Amino acid sequence: MSGHFITFEGIDGSGKSTQAKRLAERLRADGRDVVLTREPGGSVGAEEIRALVLEGDPDRWSAETEILLFTAARRDHLERTILPAVAAGKIVICDRFADSTRMYQGLSRGDLRGIVDQLHSLMIGRDPDLTVLIDMDPATGLSRAKSRQTAEERFEDFGQALQEQMRKGFLDLSREYADRFRVIDGAQDMDRVSDAVYATVTQYIEATT
Ligand code: TYD
Repeated sequence: MSGHFITFEGIDGSGKSTQAKRLAERLRADGRDVVLTREPGGSVGAEEIRALVLEGDPDRWSAETEILLFTAARRDHLERTILPAVAAGKIVICDRFADSTRMYQGLSRGDLRGIVDQLHSLMIGRDPDLTVLIDMDPATGLSRAKSRQTAEERFEDFGQALQEQMRKGFLDLSREYADRFRVIDGAQDMDRVSDAVYATVTQYIEATT
């Protein structure tokens, strides 16, 4: 019996983390076995790498080194958390995955998408079965992200122009990988977003099991 690997993507402040958590709760209430995890992080080693990439001076790492760190974290997360759970028939819900690297590292400091994709096929080689994109207007997303004020603000300091670029990039990705992407309008009321996510995901699960 094989499980399912589902990811959430979206710009900072899009509400995807809340939606991932709500989906996990609803699927568990239905009696399903769910593992909720996140990137960067999701395993002991990957959480250590998370602190290296998200805290401290934004210029601490070159763009290329940053790609390597995110990919190293992902490889550990995949080996130790994601693949064992999927093999055991569980539903893995992951808050961000390789599509975030395709966008953030692939677009924000020059065009490095080719390098990101090469490293992905070399060291990860696994894409999600289903990706839920919470699409959100950057002005709304940014004001929400700023209001949280965590130590991990370096990526959220990008500013609105870059968030616009990210939003467009995620929508482009949803067309590039149309088979696995589902786009949900994140500007709706939160309960409606979570109903839409639940409907989309249960429809996918029922169609594939
Ligand atoms: P996350 O904890 O998901 O923040 P949020 O809940 O605000 O979306 O991610 C932290 C930051 O890490 C986020 O700004 C995006 C960035 N990130 C990358 O740049 N590359 C990656 O591969 C991943 C997974 C995240």
